Amino acid sequence: MSELQKTWTVPMLARARADGRKLVMLTCYDASFARVLDDNGCDLILVGDSLGMVVQGHASTLPVRVEDIAYHTAAVARGARRALKIADFPFGSDGSPQEAHAAAVRFIQAGASMVKLEGAGHKLETIRYLVEREIPVCSHLGLTPQSVHRFGGFKVQGREDAAAARLCEEALAVADAGAALLVLEGVPAPLATRITAASPIPTIGIGAGAGCDGQVLVLHDLLGLDTGHRRPKFVKDFLADGGSVAGAIRAFAAAVRSGAFPAAEHSYE
Ligand code: KIV
Repeated sequence: MSELQKTWTVPMLARARADGRKLVMLTCYDASFARVLDDNGCDLILVGDSLGMVVQGHASTLPVRVEDIAYHTAAVARGARRALKIADFPFGSDGSPQEAHAAAVRFIQAGASMVKLEGAGHKLETIRYLVEREIPVCSHLGLTPQSVHRFGGFKVQGREDAAAARLCEEALAVADAGAALLVLEGVPAPLATRITAASPIPTIGIGAGAGCDGQVLVLHDLLGLDTGHRRPKFVKDFLADGGSVAGAIRAFAAAVRSGAFPAAEHSYE
């Protein structure tokens, strides 16, 4: 069986990293697109709370509710057979370990194999709590969109020495708490490369340079759709080259695996 036909499981993430195989991840929110992603080389599908911005039309991810993620996860799970499905905790749903567990059970029962959670700090206890209860966790650090008010906008994180050191510590802490995957968003490329080298778990970058173990984009950005939001520099329209939705997914997967994406023009220094 070729690599592209395998059904992804959580232990395969670490094996892919050990084999030097880049992980290809995209967001998705419905069954039809999930089928196209699944058939065209996408390894991991994230039912992200970005759906608040690109599907629901909000200005941020903050209005998304647990039932939204559960609904879209179930739709994606009906469409994707092979890719590993990851469901995102919406804002305020992972405030306590018990609350997070209740939401995570809904996501797993809807068809996810893993849940994603923003931040470290008090979230470390939640990561431990979930992992001890057989719920695999993906952490998300750097430009965490749920922190938009604290950051004062969607701003690159880790530019100053102290912030970079804190991010390195958080990356080690989430892995130590049991996370099996780490998304790094909006981080200078050299810092993301350093974190990846030190991290015991695979990293997935978005606006974090080519030094991560894999890459993720929001599906609407990859297809060049105008979502009404400012387009960050790390976004690339793959539909223009790919010629069709399936072709765009294949072009993205090939560019991630070859290391051609992201290029320097899509990264922060
Ligand atoms: O919600 C989302 O789509 C995400 C990705 C941008 C990583 O968190």
